[in-house]
Amino acid sequence: MEVERVQALATVGLDALPAQFVRPSHERPENSRAIEGVTVPVISLSQPHHALVCEIHKACREWGSFLVTDHGIPPELVRRLQEVGREFFRLPQEEKEKYANDPSRGNFEGYGTKMTKNHDEKVEWVDYFFHLMHPPCKVRHEIWPQHPPSYREVTEKYNKEILRVTEVLLELISEGLGLEKNVLKASLGGDQMELEMKINLYPPCPQPQLALGVEPHTDMSALTILVPNEVPGLQAWKDGYWYAVDYLPNALFFHVGDQIEVLSNGKYKSVLHRSLVNKEKTRMSWAVFCAHPPPQEVLIGPLPGLINDQNPAKYSTKTYAEFRYRKFNKVPR
Ligand code: OGA
Ligand code: NI
Repeated sequence: MEVERVQALATVGLDALPAQFVRPSHERPENSRAIEGVTVPVISLSQPHHALVCEIHKACREWGSFLVTDHGIPPELVRRLQEVGREFFRLPQEEKEKYANDPSRGNFEGYGTKMTKNHDEKVEWVDYFFHLMHPPCKVRHEIWPQHPPSYREVTEKYNKEILRVTEVLLELISEGLGLEKNVLKASLGGDQMELEMKINLYPPCPQPQLALGVEPHTDMSALTILVPNEVPGLQAWKDGYWYAVDYLPNALFFHVGDQIEVLSNGKYKSVLHRSLVNKEKTRMSWAVFCAHPPPQEVLIGPLPGLINDQNPAKYSTKTYAEFRYRKFNKVPR
């Protein structure tokens, strides 16, 4: 199967953006600018416990996203993670193609680029590499990049750190919801909870004002933790406007995904976000999705501790398979 890669397209030196990338007028960055001078909350993990729980609760209610500082992940490890990701995308095209995924056959892991399904559909200015990092029994190291050779060692170290930070955040969020601190992790499968890595590559774009790196969407995960490179572009939606997420060195960008929205019975909403692209610079991001594992027959619904006569369930309890189907086919939850 022949897939046109955005990175390959970008290197031929196009003057104009090919039609399949030109967004409809109302979606274009030039017609939907972000509010200036305001950005998402910044939350330090090294503050007294009670204050931290309150700050996170407030940010989850009001924004659905925030930047996390003092998380304890060594900056050097993040720098190495970014370097091994960049190295993969520097490989010759035919080398990268050996890792190509095939979502139409259910193979989501590997090197990918979204394709148009029909004439009108618009695509995003991005290539990616997607693979599972956790739990260990489901990880397929054979499909991870073999080049650079340190990819595996660095990514495993990062996985360990992200797992630690995720567990801390899930406890704090559980407490903010008024639940025992272990509740959210337990309802996300406990030790079977999944962490997935998606490395996004947004090459320089000939007409960035007409394109999007990723279109407005919410993540199907419970929560997502992202680190970008220094090229800005990520935006989050709040109360009818886009807000640019500032690049803050060494911070992690956190956002609420669909599964926490459902588990929290809508108390925390999964945040709509998008990313813009740049004319001269390559933007990259490393997104880790923390999610409930399939099996497909597992049920997902509002947590019993949050439902009572005054707070009836706003979401029906569904199987994971149905949840996924609705997401991909844009059926309301
Ligand atoms: C995603 C995503 C945003 C970014 O991969 O789901 O929202 O800044 N990425 O790369
Ligand atoms: Ni996303």
